[in-house]
Amino acid sequence: MTRIDGSRALVIGATGVLGTLIAERLSEGGASLALSGRDAARLDERAGQGTGIAVDLTDETAPETIVGRATEALGGLDVIVLAAGVVGFDSVAETAEQDLETLFTVNALAPMRIVSAALPALRESAEAGREPVVLALTGIVAELPTAGLGSYSASKAALAAYLTAAGRELRRSGIRLLDARPGHTETGLAGRPLFGTAPKFPAGHDPAAVADRLVRAIAEGETALPPGAFTGT
Ligand SMILES: NC(=O)c1ccc[n+]([C@@H]2O[C@H](COP(=O)([O-])OP(=O)(O)OC[C@H]3O[C@@H](n4cnc5c(N)ncnc54)[C@H](OP(=O)(O)O)[C@@H]3O)[C@@H](O)[C@H]2O)c1
Repeated sequence: MTRIDGSRALVIGATGVLGTLIAERLSEGGASLALSGRDAARLDERAGQGTGIAVDLTDETAPETIVGRATEALGGLDVIVLAAGVVGFDSVAETAEQDLETLFTVNALAPMRIVSAALPALRESAEAGREPVVLALTGIVAELPTAGLGSYSASKAALAAYLTAAGRELRRSGIRLLDARPGHTETGLAGRPLFGTAPKFPAGHDPAAVADRLVRAIAEGETALPPGAFTGT
């Protein structure tokens, strides 16, 4: 169990649909927030909800900057939500080098580096008995790689593998890593790809219901959120 009330929570991708909904729920539950996204103006508009940290994850100093600023603003970290991500639709051998690099940096490398940068703060939280947790949104593609989504699937599978291994390593330190793998969710993400065009998807999950499920999993100490955990959302 991780107490939301009184927790110090960093939401990355806080300007996105799921990030916004998750931040709202954490705030309503009594968490103090640091919100990271690319758009400083949009973060400024939400200054009442938490400290804004405007950073692009393709900047190699972003992980250290985000974690450093959030830890300083909140006095520590108990909850980290990794909800930034980009999608691209491609066929095999079609993806431009730069696009592939951006996809892997935002979806896999930056989240991995953020977990590493946050370890001292998460260890401190665990030692104080606050049961810290990192929740990352990988998605169903991490376990069901999908044709036309090869690069996206690979980037999410890479992060999922890291979370599984790092979660095993950190469990003894009292740090929980939670990999959330919802299926297609109606956030509009598929309509703003880095490259390519989305195929027609069947109706997806309701973003508000997915956010509810994610925050419940944080609070109730769950250790896995496979696609089936979102049935009915
Ligand atoms: N929607 C789905 O079907 C689905 C299913 C499973 C998993 N997921 C994952 O859930 C997460 C949230 O997705 P969403 O559906 O809520 O999409 P979204 O509304 O497009 O949110 C994506 C977020 O990532 C941020 N972002 C993108 N590129 C960035 C960069 N270079 N630097 C910093 N931030 C960057 C966006 O910032 P801006 O606001 O500045 O663009 C936005 O905050 C993603 O990781 C996605 O892969 C989504």
